[in-house]
Amino acid sequence: MIIGIIGLGYVGLTLAIAAADCGVTVYGTEVNNHIKECLKRNRAHFYEPGLDKVIAKLNEKAFFCVDTFPEDVKFDAFVVSVGTPLLTGTHSPDFDYIRQALRSISNIYTGEQLVIIRSTVSVGTTRRIALPLLAELCGKPEDEVLIAMCPERTIEGKAIEEITGLPQIISGNNARSVEIADKLFRMITTRTIVVGSLEEAELAKLYCNVYRDTIFAVGNVLCMAAQEFGVDGIKVIRAANDGYARSSIASPGFVAGPCLGKDAYILTNNLPECSAKDFILSERKFNESLEDTVVEWVERNSRGRIVAISGMAFKGKPETSDLRGSSSVRIAKELKKRGYSLRLHDFAAISGELSALELGEVFETVEEVCAGTAALLVLNNNARYSKLMPFSAMFQSGFVILDAWGALSHLEGKGICAFTLGNIKLRREL
Ligand SMILES: NC(=O)c1ccc[n+]([C@@H]2O[C@H](COP(=O)([O-])OP(=O)(O)OC[C@H]3O[C@@H](n4cnc5c(N)ncnc54)[C@H](O)[C@@H]3O)[C@@H](O)[C@H]2O)c1
Repeated sequence: MIIGIIGLGYVGLTLAIAAADCGVTVYGTEVNNHIKECLKRNRAHFYEPGLDKVIAKLNEKAFFCVDTFPEDVKFDAFVVSVGTPLLTGTHSPDFDYIRQALRSISNIYTGEQLVIIRSTVSVGTTRRIALPLLAELCGKPEDEVLIAMCPERTIEGKAIEEITGLPQIISGNNARSVEIADKLFRMITTRTIVVGSLEEAELAKLYCNVYRDTIFAVGNVLCMAAQEFGVDGIKVIRAANDGYARSSIASPGFVAGPCLGKDAYILTNNLPECSAKDFILSERKFNESLEDTVVEWVERNSRGRIVAISGMAFKGKPETSDLRGSSSVRIAKELKKRGYSLRLHDFAAISGELSALELGEVFETVEEVCAGTAALLVLNNNARYSKLMPFSAMFQSGFVILDAWGALSHLEGKGICAFTLGNIKLRREL
């Protein structure tokens, strides 16, 4: 099969490379010059284990990054994998990138090719926005247009492994659309799940992320509630889960990033007012409130105005360089606004991208970032923290550590006493 992918970001590029590796010929378009430059050097513009190696193998052989799709190639399908961010200052999704992406194929789109929406969209968007636009572009009635909604469900840091291992949800507006989409994804994944409508696929995708948001909120809520009873929430979670299969309460931590931070809003955007909407939004807002909790902790506990932050990527496990939607970035912005000087570190973030945020100087190691500071905030759960040994700054009088995720718990027995999201309120009272 021959496909064209519009948008070579995290989702588009990983799909492009996985598909090319499975025998599909893939052309990709991208508007960001930095991404195109990286691809010319056989590299992704982000860190994803295993990805660069496969790019080097397939680039210009089975995968071609092009400015526009060649008119002499007979495409079976186009895949739309552009961003669907929330409009600045609002919680409403912006689907303009999708409209622009569809218009970008107008010179080559005949209505004979399948168009697959892969971006995350509100329920009904494929039918109400993408389908009429394609019908207009090709001049065919809507029921003859071939359109599918096949959502992406991989996680950053494990995308290459998951894209071929996870079952792929497939939906289409008619049997032919489903057939072509199913044929394509059977070349890439081990299993496909054909659902009854475009809307089922859209909702299944969104609810996968709302579900994760909720289970993490449950762990976070427990940690805050436990402290009202004077006990450490993390210890309660460990005890509750130990040997008890019916309980797998998540450890506390931030729930953020380019997807988890927005999908609850994308889902509730066109959901009429109802108790289900209230529930989804309340767990989202609880997770967001942890950022304020951390800022207030700094205000109460730091004895100086220079603060070190380690763990700027939105998550540590699996490791990612992605700073988009990161709670750490939002916390750093708020602290800077309040007059703190910041020193920053991350194990995986690309230091140029971190510097470009202009939040503080960037350092290579946790030891370096702590020099001359009054407090260390460890804000993600990168596995590399478990190898960290105590160093002198940690023992300086008045130096405080907030280890939000408990990533430094191995240091507890070595004389390091850190605040965590399980005892952040408790320790203050003691
Ligand atoms: N990042 C993830 O792990 C993930 C997982 C599942 C779903 N999603 C969803 O997938 C979609 C894409 O996410 P992403 O993280 O890859 O976003 P991204 O911003 O990394 O990638 C989108 C890319 O599309 C490019 N683009 C925009 N308009 C274009 C156009 N007209 N022509 C060509 N290129 C264009 C942008 O420059 C960008 O590089 C979003 O809807 C997101 O919610 C993301």
